[in-house]
Amino acid sequence: MTSKVTVPKVQASKVATGADPLVMVTAYDAPSARVADAAGVDMILVGDSVAMVVLGYDDTLQVTIDDMAHHVRAVARANPSSLIIGDMPWMSFHVSVEDTVRNAATLIRAGAQCVKVEGGRKRIKMIEAIRAAEIPVVGHVGLTPQSANVMGGFKIQARDAHDVRRTIAAAKGLQAAGCFAIVVEGVPDIAGQMITDALDIPVIGIGAGANTDGQVLVYQDVIGLENRFKPRFVRRYGTAFEDQVTSLTNYANDVRSGAFPGPDETYKTSDNLAEALGLYGSQPT
Ligand code: KIV
Repeated sequence: MTSKVTVPKVQASKVATGADPLVMVTAYDAPSARVADAAGVDMILVGDSVAMVVLGYDDTLQVTIDDMAHHVRAVARANPSSLIIGDMPWMSFHVSVEDTVRNAATLIRAGAQCVKVEGGRKRIKMIEAIRAAEIPVVGHVGLTPQSANVMGGFKIQARDAHDVRRTIAAAKGLQAAGCFAIVVEGVPDIAGQMITDALDIPVIGIGAGANTDGQVLVYQDVIGLENRFKPRFVRRYGTAFEDQVTSLTNYANDVRSGAFPGPDETYKTSDNLAEALGLYGSQPT
């Protein structure tokens, strides 16, 4: 059995000091957590992207802390060796320090080993409070989907020198506040590299180029189940949507033609039962 990936192990994984790049993938339920674990990923992020990828919303703002806890519990039941990160949804860390710490604890009690919080300097007070409750925190800067309305959509960030410097400063602030890793999303590769070089903690990129300490992608994008929109940073490693349509089409065809269920998929009665029911000789009326 593979040993559990821990927060200190992840925190020590800087590529510049010889570590292998970290692999993170989202998962929102027990079967996908089992698959991710069997594939040997280091970290499973139970992301608020569940809102868009699984629940069909147009943004991530629709899920609550209870929704997230529900999905964290499902992932935790798979008992993966991967580190489970519970994503703090919008409005779960914006109102008060007390609510923030309680909400982070809800995800830990649901089975996460740490939480992720979106945003830069504005979030430092809340991150420090979560850390003070002994809950490890992953930061998230760059394109933060919970700020989509402020950003005017899901827009690439840190596009000019001023913004790159601002994002590096934000990432450093999160490190100083006690984050053990940071996700950097939707920034040019030069920004991804500069943030990675500037920090002692690992930087996990998504649409942040190749020169980070690891990568994260959404599960459904990796396996090709999400086949409508493909952002530039996504590489599909499978054709799950098409494969599943084929499976269900074959099933439907077999039901309609009478080919399913066959003898191997049918429970047989004993001869005695058939006889007792009068099924031998004359037909029952
Ligand atoms: O919710 C999520 O899936 C995320 C990743 C895109 C990093 O935050």
